[in-house]
Amino acid sequence: MPKLAVIGAGLMGSGIAQVAALGGYDVVLQDVSDAQLDRGLAAVDGSLQRMVKKERITADEAAAALARIARATELDAAAGADIVVEAVYEQLDVKQDIFRRLDALCRPEAVLATNTSALPITKIAAVTSRPERVVGTHFFSPVPMMRLCELVRGFKTSDETLERAKRFAEDLGKTCVVVNRDIAGFVTTRLIVALTVEAVKLVESGAATAEDVDTACRLGFGHAMGPLETMDLTGVDVFVNASRNIFTDTADPKFHPPELSVRMADAGDLGRKSGKGWYDHS
Ligand SMILES: NC(=O)c1ccc[n+]([C@@H]2O[C@H](COP(=O)([O-])OP(=O)(O)OC[C@H]3O[C@@H](n4cnc5c(N)ncnc54)[C@H](O)[C@@H]3O)[C@@H](O)[C@H]2O)c1
Repeated sequence: MPKLAVIGAGLMGSGIAQVAALGGYDVVLQDVSDAQLDRGLAAVDGSLQRMVKKERITADEAAAALARIARATELDAAAGADIVVEAVYEQLDVKQDIFRRLDALCRPEAVLATNTSALPITKIAAVTSRPERVVGTHFFSPVPMMRLCELVRGFKTSDETLERAKRFAEDLGKTCVVVNRDIAGFVTTRLIVALTVEAVKLVESGAATAEDVDTACRLGFGHAMGPLETMDLTGVDVFVNASRNIFTDTADPKFHPPELSVRMADAGDLGRKSGKGWYDHS
């Protein structure tokens, strides 16, 4: 079995470590502090225990998976890995610094993957001497539940790297879609942003209420949640940033953040995290 290193023990990194360990991978989970690792591994343990309760795995399988995850506070721990998945903060300079260091310490044939949701893979790969070995592996939250992995090619990603990333994601029980060009928002964020921009415009113009737009998507399309409910969950500010980033890259008006959402973000109506967004959460 290939050896995996996961950089960042937050929501996504701990989830990726968990599903990989369940899939039989030896994993080293690295973060900057023991406190972050404690939090990440507690989340893994909690999730595994819930799976045991639901009889999806046995208690022995949960214990074995947890035992397959080693912990580290130094990046050097990734040196022996065949594949590295970076899942740290969504900041280009932070990711580039990690890739620069990974490039220096990992074996030349190791695949270096990033779980970025929107940053260009090409810009992350460009700081390494092996851009052909760098690829986007975009998992979704919560990782143990969500079956998709969006594989994103950087400008120089090789076919072999893409294939190895695909095999890895499939080992974790995921189904892959491939984004063949390193476009802003990849496929998934472009689709959801385009739908959500139109949802905001419908409310902004008075054509429909937020409740009715969400109900239309749930009952008409079978979506689990409507776009505005989803925005309340992820953050109105997160939507405004995502749409603005894609618009900046593409100049395509369908991604331009509508004024109403921008003003909501300015006013601090950010959704669940602030107690009010499209809906009242107080
Ligand atoms: N949260 C989501 O729903 C979601 C979904 C898909 C993709 N993503 C992407 O996954 C990545 C991680 O997101 P998250 O929600 O898990 O973030 P998070 O804030 O929960 O976790 C980030 C972790 O990275 C660690 N970290 C920061 N700098 C580091 C460094 N230099 N070295 C090692 N560890 C470092 C932090 O201590 C923290 O534990 C981001 O790129 C994000 O855009 C997130």
